[in-house]
Amino acid sequence: MATQNIYILAIESSCDDTAASVMYNGKILSNVVAGQSIHEAYGGVVPELASRAHQQNIVPVVHEALKQAQVDKSQLQAIAFTRGPGLMGSLLVGTSFAKSLAYGLNIPLIDVNHMQAHILAHFIDEEGSKKPPFPFLGMTISGGHTQIVKVNSYFDMEVIGETIDDAVGEAFDKSGKMLGLGYPAGPEIDRRAKLGNPKAFKFTKPKVDGLNFSFSGLKTAILYFLQRETKANSNFVEDHLNDICASIQYTIIGILIEKLKLASKQTGIHHIAIGGGVSANSGIRKALKEGEGKFGWTTYVPKFEFTTDNAAMIAIVGYLKYLEGDFADQSITASSRLQI
Ligand code: KG4
Ligand code: ZN
Repeated sequence: MATQNIYILAIESSCDDTAASVMYNGKILSNVVAGQSIHEAYGGVVPELASRAHQQNIVPVVHEALKQAQVDKSQLQAIAFTRGPGLMGSLLVGTSFAKSLAYGLNIPLIDVNHMQAHILAHFIDEEGSKKPPFPFLGMTISGGHTQIVKVNSYFDMEVIGETIDDAVGEAFDKSGKMLGLGYPAGPEIDRRAKLGNPKAFKFTKPKVDGLNFSFSGLKTAILYFLQRETKANSNFVEDHLNDICASIQYTIIGILIEKLKLASKQTGIHHIAIGGGVSANSGIRKALKEGEGKFGWTTYVPKFEFTTDNAAMIAIVGYLKYLEGDFADQSITASSRLQI
């Protein structure tokens, strides 16, 4: 096993983005993502269409990642891939591709947990990047997950809170759908929230004990609110869209910050790192920064391109596992419900 000049190719295909990245000694040389616009027409990801699109995208995306990195596949020391969690059909495309390539090149294969990767994205070696010290609290907020994780070391992580129903990204996307916004609605709600009044409308926060989350009640509250208001004024949504978006975002962020405060109090840990698609949200980024002054936190927010699904985060986990000699063999299979 080479211990110097480590080139790793990483592949991510857990949901609706096909992504590949080449990493050299912990530094990103390329980070290519092909999104799948086909789902927009359906207002959500259609699993069967996602796996077919992955099949079409995977070869060109991997080629592009190698080309941008100016690396030939003969230089690679290992292939890392997302084993789970995610959509089974989508995961199978990346898993089979990675296994075949590692077999063909006769180099190690490294399986990566997607949720660990969202957290470990903070360890990508970048100019000016700030790495959290262990132990720290990781909060993964995405379209499929909402978790608070106590991170003791790279591979010793403990989930101390999670959603009991919808993920926070789903709360954004489903609210957006009710407002007639496209999929995914998170970025559009974020954009409109900046133009609206966050206190224009009030939504009750769910009452869930401890560090767990619930977002399905909020969805219902928004639905009833919209039904009531549009009965009185059929143009209510058009007339107040920015205020509605700002109020929804304000409520969601309030829920996240409340649980982080509790987690920090219970564990005595003040270093907080977020990851996952929703960590791109400008409101949550601002609220975390404010938490530094208000609650004595030190917060870590990934670079924008490492927030939504990407292969650079898979590559860093691949690199850390490579250094530990932690490899998978050809009998490994995708696992849609893989836990942290
Ligand atoms: O991590 P990710 O790319 O995929 C999953 O693993 O789920 O997260 C996608 C989610 C979607 O729900 C999307 O609406 C949300 O991240 N998202 C945002 C923003 N950008 C993406 N939510 C709120 N504000 C944003 N700026
Ligand atoms: Zn994700």
